Amino acid sequence: MALSLSALKSRFIGLDTEYALADGRRSRRYYLDSAASALMLEPAWTMAQAFLRHYANTHSHLHFGARVATHAYIWAHERALAFVGANQTDHACAFVGSGSTAGFNRIARALARLRPERDTVLISGMEHHSNDLPHRKHAGRVEHIPMLGTPPAFGALDLVALESLLEQNKGRVNYVAVTGASNVTGIINPIKEIARLAHAHDAWLVMDCSQLVMHAPVRMDEGIDFLAFSGHKVYAPGSPGVVVGRREILAGLEPDEVGGGMVDDVSLEAYIVSDRFPDREEAGTPNIVGAVLLGAALETLMQVGMDKVHAAEQAMLAPLMRELAARPLVRVYGDMDQKRSPRTGTIAFNIDGLDHGLVAAALNDYFGVAVRNDCFCAHPYVREMLKPELWAIDLGAETPENLAEMELRKGMVRASFGLYTTQEDLDALLGGIDALCADIDGFRARYERGSDDVHRHRHFSASAESLFDPRRELAIALAG
Ligand SMILES: Cc1ncc(COP(=O)(O)O)c(C=O)c1O
Repeated sequence: MALSLSALKSRFIGLDTEYALADGRRSRRYYLDSAASALMLEPAWTMAQAFLRHYANTHSHLHFGARVATHAYIWAHERALAFVGANQTDHACAFVGSGSTAGFNRIARALARLRPERDTVLISGMEHHSNDLPHRKHAGRVEHIPMLGTPPAFGALDLVALESLLEQNKGRVNYVAVTGASNVTGIINPIKEIARLAHAHDAWLVMDCSQLVMHAPVRMDEGIDFLAFSGHKVYAPGSPGVVVGRREILAGLEPDEVGGGMVDDVSLEAYIVSDRFPDREEAGTPNIVGAVLLGAALETLMQVGMDKVHAAEQAMLAPLMRELAARPLVRVYGDMDQKRSPRTGTIAFNIDGLDHGLVAAALNDYFGVAVRNDCFCAHPYVREMLKPELWAIDLGAETPENLAEMELRKGMVRASFGLYTTQEDLDALLGGIDALCADIDGFRARYERGSDDVHRHRHFSASAESLFDPRRELAIALAG
């Protein structure tokens, strides 16, 4: 029987955490920063703690704990493969680092070594730096595929532009690397069509699924050759990054990292790399607990059904977009037509007359709403989208101070959903935005910008230690 989504919604750690606010109220937090990292799925954590009673290293079946650890670790890989519709005959999965960044570095190095004669990689203009810089550094020449539409209403990647870039670089494109969904606007890219074009030019398709996995089903059989995502964005903080790729491509490749656990034999003269996955791709002791936790989170999501998660999120997203669009001082970025440009529950916006940093600080301090601001590690995308309004600001002469001011305005506020997001969270966001819009000067007066460009309340502060002091918390834990 399928697990009920509504029953699961409240079973995350940290949803009811309360903080004292700037106006003296206490409020539970409204966590709308899931695109950065998602809250821990409590049943997955409980399962991982149960596993800890057996904890041992992997790669052995002989003592009971090692047998449990080895089995649970393999199970986690199987869950990751199943989660993206991969099968063990055609695909292999490796857990790497602490997120997808390690995965993209690994993929870029590997694919560049496999086809050195193909020196070009095409990526979209909406990529997170983690699916951009690894290709620039390891894989040769990177060209950026533009988006549809004009700023600030960019849509998905422009397929016609992709095709012409493939044509212009005929025989040179090793792979196309694009995000499944933007971490800024949530706009979703058409995977099947991108795959068709890439494959027609004998280029591989690498998908950045870091943002898509928590919002919608992902399927390798849509034409994906490689993908990566971060475990901490699918409700398993502390878990590794995941790479899934086509086995036939990976099998021909000498692993990038070498060490214990990935060899069948080592003599003084030579070593024989194991042909087993994931062993050959995972040198050294892995993040076993994180992997088991991730397996539990992915299995839970599969039992709920990612199609249901997606549908429920879309039902909350559409009214929120309408509400935001109806507010004259609010500018939402990316194409607002959700039929033409479907998106996940991730919304980037600005409020006229208030710096993005001030908006994020005030939403937190006065309303308990946790959002993120700035450029979200997607500087080229954010910069392009903001160009029209930045150029429209008349700062007078291009003095260093004015240019610095311009630089500061280069940012947005981002609210992003998780499976646990409720209408109450979205109402808190809208209520906060309305209060800010109604008293722009008042909120401006309450904050000052420090020399580090961070907006701080003039009279209210809450240090990290006052909220959570590691020494005090450890002392409490030690006292039992
Ligand atoms: C679209 C996208 N790709 C890649 C990453 C990098 O993920 P990580 O920092 O977990 O390695 C992120 C992180 O926010 C992201 O949103």
